[in-house]
Amino acid sequence: MKKVVTLFLVLIISAKMQAQKQSIVPIIPLPLKMEMGKGFFEISEATNLIAQSKECLSDLQYFKNYLSLKYDLNLKLSVSDKKKKSVFVKQNVLLKPDAYKLEIDSNGVRIEGGDGAGVFYGLQTLIQLLPAGKTNKLNVAILSIQDEPRFSWRGMHLDVCRHFFGVDEVKKYLDYLALYKLNTFHWHLTDDQGWRIEINNYPRLTSVAAYRNGTLIGHYGEKPERYDTLRYGGFYTQDQIREVVAYAMERHITIVPEIELPGHALAALAAYPMLACTKGPFEVGKTWGVFKDVYCPSVETFNFLEDVLNQVCELFPGKYIHIGGDECPKDRWKESEYCQALMKKEGLKDEHELQSFFVNRIGKFLQSKGKKMIGWDEILEGGIPEDATIMSWRGYAGGIEAAKLHHDVVMTPTSYCYFDYYQSRNNSEPLAIGGYLPLNMVYRFEPIADVMTKEDAAYVLGTQGNLWTEYIDNWKKVEYMTMPRMAALSEVAWTSKEQKDYGNFVSRLSSHTKLLSFLGINYSKSFYDISSHITPAGNQGINIELISSYPNAEIRYSVDGRSPNNTSPIFKNKILADQTFRLKAAIFDGPQIRGEVTEQQYFINLATGKEITLANQPNPEYATGGSFSLVNSQKGSLPWNGSDWLGFTGNGLDATIDLGMAKQISTVSIDILNDSDSWIYPPASLEVLVSDNNIDFKSVGKLTGEKIKTVGRKVSLLFDKTNARFVKVVAPTIGKIPALSPGSGNESWLMVDEIEIF
Ligand code: ACM
Repeated sequence: MKKVVTLFLVLIISAKMQAQKQSIVPIIPLPLKMEMGKGFFEISEATNLIAQSKECLSDLQYFKNYLSLKYDLNLKLSVSDKKKKSVFVKQNVLLKPDAYKLEIDSNGVRIEGGDGAGVFYGLQTLIQLLPAGKTNKLNVAILSIQDEPRFSWRGMHLDVCRHFFGVDEVKKYLDYLALYKLNTFHWHLTDDQGWRIEINNYPRLTSVAAYRNGTLIGHYGEKPERYDTLRYGGFYTQDQIREVVAYAMERHITIVPEIELPGHALAALAAYPMLACTKGPFEVGKTWGVFKDVYCPSVETFNFLEDVLNQVCELFPGKYIHIGGDECPKDRWKESEYCQALMKKEGLKDEHELQSFFVNRIGKFLQSKGKKMIGWDEILEGGIPEDATIMSWRGYAGGIEAAKLHHDVVMTPTSYCYFDYYQSRNNSEPLAIGGYLPLNMVYRFEPIADVMTKEDAAYVLGTQGNLWTEYIDNWKKVEYMTMPRMAALSEVAWTSKEQKDYGNFVSRLSSHTKLLSFLGINYSKSFYDISSHITPAGNQGINIELISSYPNAEIRYSVDGRSPNNTSPIFKNKILADQTFRLKAAIFDGPQIRGEVTEQQYFINLATGKEITLANQPNPEYATGGSFSLVNSQKGSLPWNGSDWLGFTGNGLDATIDLGMAKQISTVSIDILNDSDSWIYPPASLEVLVSDNNIDFKSVGKLTGEKIKTVGRKVSLLFDKTNARFVKVVAPTIGKIPALSPGSGNESWLMVDEIEIF
């Protein structure tokens, strides 16, 4: 009897699991409405591809090519009204632009699109429903979908200047956009480190500006700087540009070309030094960052830029031209007699207004060509040019301001949309520019700022992800950095706010990665990463809770230094730690590890888990874990943003730890960061004081001068053995940043993590 009951239960449970599995149809972005039917329709050699009218032919041709390329299935394509046993597509003006209906039943597949794009998106959904592997049985689930996007600007940006990617690679990128129903490709074509577009009558743009004589090795922050001596570069001919534009059009993608001005112009100046305010000579940029040499607002410059933009307007049929406008230092304009005279003549009160004058003039030119100007949010400074659309990257602020002024906005703030940031804290992560933007953070992004009124919100056209390529020198890395963050962004741009759910998204993503593999795309598995939450465990140490943003994750862990396997303990509630150890954990699906093994060292010492009070509070921006993070046994990692580090300015660290009872101690250490490029310095000194009553403290030692200036990641103070219950650790900042260092004159930062007491 017992056996029967058990069997019955198992059947019920497995049926339920089956149903749950089936209900996850891995379509990304999530459609507006979907109803599942029962069974499948098989697309086979007997299936015809039928367009109701000629205008849908090219979209269906795309699908035909896909079946042929991926499955060796070659189907007949025709224009007809006959629907039976076919994939049938038509346009239906009653639907909105970009919207589509997809019906799959035992008679075949029918797609209606509000326009060509709508038909194309219906076909993209169908592509995602096909088996993610080569098979001759192309079953697609019976279902019905009604779908439309939330935003009209659904974009991805690609910087081809810092590193160059050829036509075939750019086409791959366009394929990824198409897969996720993204419709805007922002092509960053000119910058300090390379000019990438052929312009007639300016041969030096391609013979000189398109190549640099070496490239920085490693990270921009590393000292001393090292360079390779390889000539590096490339450019697109106008024929290649036309080829890419046509390829994008077939995928209903508009290309927004970016010609950077007035800053980020060093490559152009290297080719044509007369466009600068000083004589030069200039060299195409070999390192990253921002350069002081920019276009001079001279007659020569405007003639040049108008010639360039004239050709750009002809090559790109879309309505927007991106003119950059970001990060333009004003040093050269301040030093230039010509600029100062021009400012006087035009009644411009400062160099910001001169930039506005510059950009306005370009905007008027673009208007005369029937185009609209878009620029990074700096073009708001000194007065927003008439009719300009703003791309808000330095947070939401620029976008909020522009919308208030009734200008259109694309929201692309660094903290959610910069895919050159790290997406994982795993040690194996490839070099990135810095920052930390995990998948769940991209997904959480809301393009409408919560302070926006309904009227302001209507100016937000949408959003895009940006891929700057200083540290991305090969295509596999482009894929790794964008996938699956591009998928998450597509859901931000397409799916209604109410429907968004990260758990549901990663469940779909987990199946969808099979398609990415089938397409040969190198994606990051960091959405399976595991992090830990630590709480004090009385006098015994700490409790560790393992956390994954992947829903219902089965986490297994090991504490013996070996990688966990499918017999390792499953994490339940918490792990008690009372001595230093290394934890390895991973998510398991049966015997298989999903993603990477996460490793974490816990440094248990007398301070671990004890009560800590701070006399000075850290800056709220760098205080993720609060004061407890200094005694939680987990050391701050890199990238430091959002990690355990506490960031202090002013008086710096003044922490008192209550050991609970008097203990014999002889060493106190703190971990610090030393990164002058980010304005972060070691403390001016480190002093330790002890007390039995938390009132009368006596100093047991102090480090100052060279001993502390030259420390690496950890500062330790050793002193004679002493008994103490309260231990005060004082580490002031160095105050203002010294001369000749980045940010000199500003407040320096002290970044501190673990305090260890032995
Ligand atoms: C930018 O990231 N400089 C727009």
